[in-house]
Amino acid sequence: MNAAQSSSEAQSQSDSKGTEPRVINVGLLGCGVVGGALVELIHERREAIIAAAGIDLRVTQVAVRSASKERPGVPNDLLTTDAKALVAADDVDLVVEVIGGIEPARELIRSAMDGGKPVVTANKELLANYGAELSLAADEAGVDLLFEAAVAGAIPIVRPLRESLLGEDITRIMGIVNGTTNYILTKMSEDGQSYEAALAEAQRLGYAEADPTADVGGFDAGAKAAIMASIAFGARVVAGDVYHEGISAITKADIDYANELGYEIKLLAIAEVIEGEQREIGVRVHPAMVPCNHPLASVRDSFNAVFVEGRSAGEMMFYGRGAGGRPTASAVLGDLIDAAANLASGTHRLVPVGEPCRIRPIDDIESAYYLNADVDDSPGVLAAVATVFGEHNLSIRSMNQEGEGDHARIALVTHQARERDLQAALHDLRELACVTGVGSVLRVIES
Ligand code: HSE
Repeated sequence: MNAAQSSSEAQSQSDSKGTEPRVINVGLLGCGVVGGALVELIHERREAIIAAAGIDLRVTQVAVRSASKERPGVPNDLLTTDAKALVAADDVDLVVEVIGGIEPARELIRSAMDGGKPVVTANKELLANYGAELSLAADEAGVDLLFEAAVAGAIPIVRPLRESLLGEDITRIMGIVNGTTNYILTKMSEDGQSYEAALAEAQRLGYAEADPTADVGGFDAGAKAAIMASIAFGARVVAGDVYHEGISAITKADIDYANELGYEIKLLAIAEVIEGEQREIGVRVHPAMVPCNHPLASVRDSFNAVFVEGRSAGEMMFYGRGAGGRPTASAVLGDLIDAAANLASGTHRLVPVGEPCRIRPIDDIESAYYLNADVDDSPGVLAAVATVFGEHNLSIRSMNQEGEGDHARIALVTHQARERDLQAALHDLRELACVTGVGSVLRVIES
């Protein structure tokens, strides 16, 4: 069945019930993995969408870089290489952007909205850098700008934060929002793989790019953290506000230590409100030791999850597929139906722009820490190490020492401490004659 046949069947079905679906013409910017899956899904779900929402979505144009490339399921006559003309075209009511990157996506989205067309986008990088500008433009134009797919793929998290939890006082969000790194850490923890072997496998499976920096360096998760923080806290948080540490320095030994102590190591995107004289927002991405009994510890392979804590609602976790063509297209389609229904009824959602906010510098963030150090196994060494911690106001929660000949490895976990105090203690620790090396330092999530 081609698109034209299915369109006339749905029209006659709908006519026979005495209601006519409202046709909304969709222009699609980009036809990669997500765009192609979206065209398929719109076709597959067409009758269900008409039945549920009274909207008949028709893709009328698809902007691509090369119109000669075969795209299964996407009729060739829809393809155009003129994206600027697509956003202005009379046969496009609503624009979906799945090109990614800043330009030309930003310019095209602006021009669609300025022309009165709602936009659905999956573009985390753009929203994490220009979210406020785009939200203001959407508000001025009186159109929807929806972006559920920009954070954690198929998982509904943007809409719950924007709508269901609008009245909630959210205090902290901790997300595993990068599937590639979660896959790598899972393989290291469960299969004993090295970082390099797990990364190579992630690349073979198509999770990790040939240049994996955006994923393993925490930048992808950082963009998502900025978007979640902006929505959850009504603030203007941009990608540049996010402190990053990636996972490339995590070793198999770190994972084994963590497992022995009852933790899994996860790359977390954390956004939190710190109340004080002035309200500040802490937003960061780094590997962390998560207690095995915490719901985030059980998020394995390439799955994502977002753990939200609110003063009234308590703890919630949203879990699912954070990447991939069909999961991401499913989130785009939900927004598309919503925006189309709003367009049909001449309305649009409120677009929260967010207030400027203070970002708490990483040096002032508090956390519990795990660290290990190689030391001489001789009298007074434990006391010397403990003294350094005491001098910097760091309280030790647990300490373990394993002897290896005349050397020993000390592993310890602190109570909550400020980053700047921990860094100062690390500096002094490295200066001690009895310390031959300081190994990994990891933040610890308390259950
Ligand atoms: N590369 C991301 C991931 C998906 O591995 O989860 C896109 O944000």
